[in-house]
Amino acid sequence: MSPLPLLLLLSLLSPSISTQNPKPSPPQTLIQKTCNTTTYYDLCVSSLSDDPKSQEADIRGLSTIIVNLTATNATNTLSYMLSLATNTTNNSLKTLLRSCAAKYSNASEALRKSMHSIDEDSYDDAFVYVSAAAEYPNVCRVLFRQQPKLVYPPELMKREVALEKLCTVALDIISLLISS
Ligand SMILES: *[C@@H]1O[C@H](CO)[C@@H](O)[C@H](O)[C@H]1NC(C)=O
Ligand SMILES: *[C@@H]1O[C@H](CO)[C@@H](O)[C@H](O)[C@H]1NC(C)=O
Ligand SMILES: *[C@@H]1O[C@H](CO)[C@@H](O)[C@H](O)[C@H]1NC(C)=O
Ligand SMILES: *[C@@H]1O[C@H](CO)[C@@H](O)[C@H](O)[C@H]1NC(C)=O
Ligand SMILES: *[C@@H]1O[C@H](CO)[C@@H](O)[C@H](O)[C@H]1NC(C)=O
Ligand SMILES: *[C@@H]1O[C@H](CO)[C@@H](O)[C@H](O)[C@H]1NC(C)=O
Repeated sequence: MSPLPLLLLLSLLSPSISTQNPKPSPPQTLIQKTCNTTTYYDLCVSSLSDDPKSQEADIRGLSTIIVNLTATNATNTLSYMLSLATNTTNNSLKTLLRSCAAKYSNASEALRKSMHSIDEDSYDDAFVYVSAAAEYPNVCRVLFRQQPKLVYPPELMKREVALEKLCTVALDIISLLISS
């Protein structure tokens, strides 16, 4: 036998040898199982894993953590917009940015109400508040669209999408509470 077919034979054999004795995969954590039911698995796992409280939390606890984190995200963007508004010399843009900041403030407030609803086991209310929070960033984009001369800053677009995705994950997790 020449070496080449032998190598081929070996490379064909080796995977079948390893599959005969499969390593048991590590058990799924609750974070992974929960995030597997959401639209954005990676975002969900990385966001929840950032908070050490997630390791001990049940699904209800995970929902509070993700909603809290989403509220923080909205508040950060609100501060960013106010900073942009302060820095610009263009008064139309300044006004628009302040209106947008107010929408992100509304979003953050809705998310805090949602946390309060989870606290009271009112999961339907919690869902409605997060749905509302997800709509406010949209309003900002529409305000920009109404003034075509003003460009919607790409950084704001990025932040809008980030907040909407977090809201989607939060809604997916709250849905688990509603259906349980
Ligand atoms: C993840 O969800 C899919 C269905 O959406 C399911 O088929 C799969 O078994 C789940 N994986 C785990 C590890 O739970
Ligand atoms: C929400 O997050 C902040 C930190 O961002 C933390 O101080 C606070 O305790 C959290 N609230 C809840 C209810 O988990
Ligand atoms: C606004 O200007 C300050 C001072 O120059 C700067 O530190 C800050 O990053 C600017 N804000 C934004 C959002 O660009
Ligand atoms: C603000 O910027 C827009 C778009 O560049 C421009 O059309 C408008 O005239 C500016 N307004 C002022 C007050 O400079
Ligand atoms: C948004 O917040 C402003 C004040 O910050 C308030 O006047 C307004 O009623 C809020 N809008 C909604 C829909 O809650
Ligand atoms: C919150 O928003 C910022 C702004 O774009 C984003 O970069 C960040 O990843 C977000 N935080 C989380 C936990 O997703």
